[in-house]
Amino acid sequence: MIGNKTFTMIKPLAVERGHAGKILDRILEEGYLIISLKMVHLCKREAEAFYIVHKDRPFFDTLTDYMSSGPIVAAILKKENAVLDYRTLIGVTNPAEAAEGTMRKQFGTDLTRNAVHGSDSDENAEVECRFFFSEMEKMKWQ
Ligand code: RTP
Ligand code: MG
Repeated sequence: MIGNKTFTMIKPLAVERGHAGKILDRILEEGYLIISLKMVHLCKREAEAFYIVHKDRPFFDTLTDYMSSGPIVAAILKKENAVLDYRTLIGVTNPAEAAEGTMRKQFGTDLTRNAVHGSDSDENAEVECRFFFSEMEKMKWQ
């Protein structure tokens, strides 16, 4: 299959509220192939490592507290133009400002608890996929 990869997480509150299945369904409906998938509960140190680019931002502690507060669902997705298209599908960071039909509008609660993460570049997608998944955990037919 042609295309490139992006990395996504379904964030703790969306998982806790039982939205993971609906979000994965939407991802498939939008034409993405799910290459790898797992549910994990990050510890604070792991959440800090994942979001290290934001370490000097005022929201770093709130963000990493939240991302380590419960299980998340992590996945590698593949599609043509995956990174940009997936950012469009999830919507802007703040659910209150996200467009109708986006996943953050539908499932997000507030700026921190915004339902889903999506990689912002091909390079970061590669780094994020490797953070969560080993070679063995990637589909061999990708
Ligand atoms: P993400 O990385 O989770 O996909 O979100 P994003 O690219 O849309 O936003 P980013 O700038 O990477 O920020 C990462 C997460 O930090 C929280 N945030 N809080 N001003 C604030 O309080 C603030 N700004 C960002 C959000 O939960 C965002 O998803
Ligand atoms: Mg980001």
